[in-house]
Amino acid sequence: MRAIQIDRFGAPDVLDLVDVPEPEPGPGDVLIRTVATSINPVDDKTRQGAIGEGTPPLPMTLGWDLAGIVVDGGSSGLSTGERVIAMSHQLSSGRGTWAALVALPARAVAAAPRSVSLAEAATLPLPGLTAWQTLEWLNVRAGERLLITGAAGAVGGLALQIARARGAEVDALVSRKSQLVFARDHGAGLVTTDRHALKERAYDAVFDTFGAFVTEAVADGGRYASIATQAGPVPDLSSRGVRTTVHQVREDGAGLNELAGLLDAGSLRLRVHSTFGVQRIRAAHARFSEGGLAGKIVVNF
Ligand SMILES: NC(=O)c1ccc[n+]([C@@H]2O[C@H](COP(=O)([O-])OP(=O)(O)OC[C@H]3O[C@@H](n4cnc5c(N)ncnc54)[C@H](OP(=O)(O)O)[C@@H]3O)[C@@H](O)[C@H]2O)c1
Repeated sequence: MRAIQIDRFGAPDVLDLVDVPEPEPGPGDVLIRTVATSINPVDDKTRQGAIGEGTPPLPMTLGWDLAGIVVDGGSSGLSTGERVIAMSHQLSSGRGTWAALVALPARAVAAAPRSVSLAEAATLPLPGLTAWQTLEWLNVRAGERLLITGAAGAVGGLALQIARARGAEVDALVSRKSQLVFARDHGAGLVTTDRHALKERAYDAVFDTFGAFVTEAVADGGRYASIATQAGPVPDLSSRGVRTTVHQVREDGAGLNELAGLLDAGSLRLRVHSTFGVQRIRAAHARFSEGGLAGKIVVNF
């Protein structure tokens, strides 16, 4: 079967479409035929060799996001032919999703949202679960004040919409003037490109997607979560009673079910920047690496 692998680290030309043996599903696994996947920053970093310790051995199949059709549901209760989405923690398991067939534990898989195509749904799993799980840790409730940094990015944009659906008041720090409209259109109150324009000690919770560490913004007794693993830990704010974490996304079919429900209820909108066929994976990565994207890159199998 076809899979996108690397056997060395480097620029997009290290990506190869190769023929590999089909996976053999273990007990509790679901075998899925891939329809579409998408590119995330972690795929870019893994390809470059920037992850360091914990990177699976070479050659490896890349990819975390998956939207496809069940070939064999095993004991999961999922039926053959059912549309599903999944997130594979590729770095810890080595099970990349950029392959024609993928075997994943049932707990990582959920029924796909009905209101969007599988190509669109492929943009949801990794950024959606990161947004969902981090908001769960932050325990953001209706009426609370939340600040999101990088609010126009893939994770930040979904976190903004989920938090608004929960009734939170959300302010947004974005990187470029062209992103102001997105954040306002999705319900942010104060939207700025200037970190010095943020209110001080005003937020019950801060969701930091790029390691801005705007620690003055969080209220005493508040919560501060970063997902920017490579920026290091959040400074210790315990003297102000602020709890901090660097959240690491985990496989979570139940979370995907919640996200699919929000999509089908119209509370969440997905953004596709462009779509590439699997044969053009190098071009897709090159476009991803250029940056400045307003939406995800989909790769069709
Ligand atoms: N810990 C985890 O489990 C986990 C899970 C998922 C993602 N991540 C990490 O989280 C980060 C965000 O992921 P993503 O998929 O949302 O990436 P993304 O789509 O590229 O979004 C990042 C956003 O942050 C903005 N940004 C970057 N630097 C900024 C700055 N100095 N000031 C203001 N805005 C800035 C970017 O703006 P531009 O477009 O202008 O650059 C972009 O809008 C990545 O580093 C990713 O590796 C971690």
